[in-house]
Amino acid sequence: MAMSLHRLFSYVLGALVVSAAAHASAPSATSTAATSTLTGIAATAPTVGPSHQVGRLPALGWNSWNGHACNINETIFLDAANQFIFLGLADAGYEYINIDDCWQSETRDASTGRIVPEPSKFPSGINGIADQVHALGLKLGIYSDAGAKTCDGFPASLGNETLDAETFIEWGVDYLKYDNCNIPSNWTDAATPPDDDWYNSNSAIRYRQMTAALNQTGKPIHFSLCIWGTANVWEWGARVGHSWRMTNDISASWSSISSILAANAQHLDSVDFFSHNDMDMMEIGNGDLTLQEQRTHFAAWAFMKSPILLGTDLNNLNSTQLDIIKNAELLAFHQDPIVGTPATPFNATASAPSTSPPEFYAGRSSKGMHVFIINTNTTATKTFDFANVPGLGFGRFRVQDMWTGKDLGTFANEFSITVDTHDTAALLIHRA
Ligand code: GLA
Repeated sequence: MAMSLHRLFSYVLGALVVSAAAHASAPSATSTAATSTLTGIAATAPTVGPSHQVGRLPALGWNSWNGHACNINETIFLDAANQFIFLGLADAGYEYINIDDCWQSETRDASTGRIVPEPSKFPSGINGIADQVHALGLKLGIYSDAGAKTCDGFPASLGNETLDAETFIEWGVDYLKYDNCNIPSNWTDAATPPDDDWYNSNSAIRYRQMTAALNQTGKPIHFSLCIWGTANVWEWGARVGHSWRMTNDISASWSSISSILAANAQHLDSVDFFSHNDMDMMEIGNGDLTLQEQRTHFAAWAFMKSPILLGTDLNNLNSTQLDIIKNAELLAFHQDPIVGTPATPFNATASAPSTSPPEFYAGRSSKGMHVFIINTNTTATKTFDFANVPGLGFGRFRVQDMWTGKDLGTFANEFSITVDTHDTAALLIHRA
């Protein structure tokens, strides 16, 4: 998607903007380690963590950005909410309807200082949409930014965390996506963070201030850090929010999807309950991804336990695409109530070549052991040894196709399957 002039301007000028209020608004710290050598903002920044009443499992929902960018108004959110019910997506577990950038008026309210929803786009206000979304049994998400302006140049929350958190909660918002554009120069990170811990970096503190402000409202809210894999966020993200973006923005292309897979595959040990690497919003229905690429996009986001936020006009999805995003077995793995960890790469056979991203992943769910095989190249037969799947061992195993639910038979020692170009095989394995 071409970058608007306004947006380009925000990116370029952002680093130069200095917010005088930026350092003033930190809520008081709840605890600081006695042995800490921290000074300045790192010593006084709040350390309160995110609510654990929400965000245990990776989020399932819809977000406006990939499909609509800034061309938004309240109708598209209410339409997405109604489609959640009509298409059976709510029954499948999708619950968040998330507003992205460009919902705001250009300036804050002169007397209250609050961010104002642009009345020409949102005549009912955000609270009006929240009421309607809640009436359907769904939840509403909103967007702000831990900088001087949002990525598209609208009012953002750095220095106004308390007021904005209170405002969002008052409107009935259940989820906050918090972006990383237009960072004032006094908030940039040193090459090495204080105490060599990126939790103490200025980047982390910009987000920690919002965690504390949200916490002070007393209402649990899902907090999504849109920090693009900077400041080693996977090391500290779970102390600040429920999920964190791992990369720059996705696009509807195989190269984008495979580079996100490659980056995220290196940090899967950060993923567990309340702790989710965010691989960015879905592109199913956008661009010209092949059917196989759309299957891999969904399967990998599910088995790596990323939030899955659909990013297209739901009216345009065909029945094959709907079957992909409603696949009960993959969603059950993603939303497993007992096992919080994702599937992780393993060496399929003694002679398996290494690829980027890795092709073979294994992980447990409450139903048993699963193997996922991504074909990063052209159609080929893929083979793995059962004994190489961590925790499986030698013997005979029954293999089931998670896409179709079909029993593929019982096998000893190894299993082979033909996987199309850029497709993913998804298997459930039980000892026979
Ligand atoms: C950034 C984020 C995107 C989207 C846009 C909105 O680029 O990474 O996901 O929120 O800003 O301007």
